[in-house]
Amino acid sequence: KYEKIWLVFGVVALAIFLGVVGVSAFSHDHTPAGGMHTIDPKKVNETAPFDEPGVTQLDDDTYQVAIVAMAFGYNAPDLRVPAGKEIIFHVTATDVVHSFTIDNTKVNMMVVPGQITTKSYTFEKPGKYLILCNEYCGTGHHMMFNEIEVY
Ligand code: CUA
Repeated sequence: KYEKIWLVFGVVALAIFLGVVGVSAFSHDHTPAGGMHTIDPKKVNETAPFDEPGVTQLDDDTYQVAIVAMAFGYNAPDLRVPAGKEIIFHVTATDVVHSFTIDNTKVNMMVVPGQITTKSYTFEKPGKYLILCNEYCGTGHHMMFNEIEVY
């Protein structure tokens, strides 16, 4: 009988351990530096800055990029930003959970419908960077990618 109690105890302890690891990994990877706020997913396309997605220069050293993710692509026209400047990405989704991941960078954001996820990043090297979705979002998931040009 005692063996059974210890077995149950072990399973519960393991579950708690995995839960803690899972929660901390999740918040570590996905909590945006700039905080997060919410909008009605149906009103994303009429809410600034997502009513006019793309690149906006804020001042000499700072650019803002607004992007809407949806199945199966990103509404993000003319993605060209300079190297060596702070780029502040604001990303949201209209339908399901996606990610906004820029290959070979530290930009890897989970994108939740109606939540604005923000990340600041400075590209060191000019070039073309692949943007992709690494959160399974449906049958067209593997076709969901875009490109950002750094000059
Ligand atoms: Cu969007 Cu996978």
